Amino acid sequence: MTKNYPTVSEEYKKLVGKAKRKLRGMIAEKNCAPLMLRIAWHSAGTFDVKTKTGGPFGTMKHPAELAHGANNGLDIAVRLLEPIKEQFPTLSYADFYQLAGVVAVEVTGGPEIPFHPGREDKPEPPPEGRLPDATLGCDHLRQVFSVQMGLSDQDIVTLSGGHTLGRCHKERSGFEGPWTSNPLIFDNSYFKELLSGEKEGLLQLPSDKALLDDPVFRPLVEKYAQDEDAFFADYAESHLKLSELGFAEA
Ligand code: HEM
Repeated sequence: MTKNYPTVSEEYKKLVGKAKRKLRGMIAEKNCAPLMLRIAWHSAGTFDVKTKTGGPFGTMKHPAELAHGANNGLDIAVRLLEPIKEQFPTLSYADFYQLAGVVAVEVTGGPEIPFHPGREDKPEPPPEGRLPDATLGCDHLRQVFSVQMGLSDQDIVTLSGGHTLGRCHKERSGFEGPWTSNPLIFDNSYFKELLSGEKEGLLQLPSDKALLDDPVFRPLVEKYAQDEDAFFADYAESHLKLSELGFAEA
């Protein structure tokens, strides 16, 4: 994939480094890495490859987008991020929200994900209905990730591993509970738990379980459950792609 990244000033790069340090501190203090990963993903995951609309362009702060059903609870993420964002008025929200996602993975022990600055904020949020529905299966996942976002089957599996962090909240999604027994640690336990079947206290969504029924997805789940290094390398690549949907395309 050749990307045509915009040139940003040395000053801007310095601010990105500084914002990264502030984000590390805030995420550690509030234990909010899962929510930070979710806001980055829900920002980027609205990208539509055909119309080149949606994507990681800073629109999540708009009340209209926060009101989308899939985004329940992300107003809390916007609120947690705002005091840091205010210290960096020249950074775009687009870069800032994606930086928060990269830092969330890093500070919980996950792989380092390259970050290229220079996204511009779009004025309008995308329409509702582009993020995946947890009650549906593989056809739906391919419709959203592959047809709409332009990602691959492998990206679907690696990115689903993002559920190594965090939990479902009844009042936000209707589901309740974490996927793993250590929801503040980024590791390959999501895949191990998925293969070992549902246990008391842990949760698997229909969209998680669907990965076990597909001839392309299942071997990847097995591989990542056995080989954390392979998961980390592939996850970093997929997260980078996700964070740059519609950005710097040649
Ligand atoms: C494959 C399709 C996906 C579906 C159907 C899905 C669905 C959900 C649902 C229902 C929740 C619970 C929200 C709540 O009640 O608080 C959730 C949380 C979460 N999702 Fe996903 N998700 C998907 C993919 C992803 C991806 C690609 C990532 C990141 C790479 C991700 C990261 C997270 C995180 C970190 C949380 C926890 C948030 C928290 O603890 O507050 N998800 N997801």
